Amino acid sequence: MVFEANIGAPINRDDLLEKLSANLSEKRFLHVQNVAATAKKLAEHWGYLAVEKAELAGLLHDYAKEETDETFKDLIHKYKLDPALLEWNNNIWHGVVGIYKIQEDFGITDPELLRAIEIHTIGSSEMGLLDKILYVADYIEDSRSFEGVETARSLAYEDLDAAVAYETLHTVLFLAQKQVQIYPQTIITYNAYVDKLRTKNRS
Ligand SMILES: [Fe+2]
Ligand SMILES: [Fe+2]
Repeated sequence: MVFEANIGAPINRDDLLEKLSANLSEKRFLHVQNVAATAKKLAEHWGYLAVEKAELAGLLHDYAKEETDETFKDLIHKYKLDPALLEWNNNIWHGVVGIYKIQEDFGITDPELLRAIEIHTIGSSEMGLLDKILYVADYIEDSRSFEGVETARSLAYEDLDAAVAYETLHTVLFLAQKQVQIYPQTIITYNAYVDKLRTKNRS
């Protein structure tokens, strides 16, 4: 079966699954399939019509996650990306830089699909429907079991912006508790969305 979504290159689903299983650990291969299934459900729930694109975003979002640091640094140089990125790590690189690896390996050019994958760990102050679907699906997929995941799952189907806010708040809290640096765009997302949670809590 071929994904029909207009994404710049036809992708055969079986070939993609084979490539993903070769590139990813068993656990992560299961994770991307779970994210794809959750993204599909959210797309159907929130009226995102390109359901296949949402599934594909789920399957591809962590494609670069197991690449080496050297690979990401090479891509940052090759595509003349912001040199400040060199100060970060795999958690940021696999999305923000990973989209260049995805373009190289799959010939995907669809800006909406690439954008959703680019910001899937950091969010943005300006998130489109696919961006939110992937961001939230990654957080609530079936194998996730952290404290608060049920709240996140409920919010995802009640108020997608509140789900984005909840996830971002908890990501910021988690990172601050570990006393590690927080990527500036994560803070920008937090500032943009935190009011949505407050509004939700009041109502
Ligand atoms: Fe990821
Ligand atoms: Fe993920």
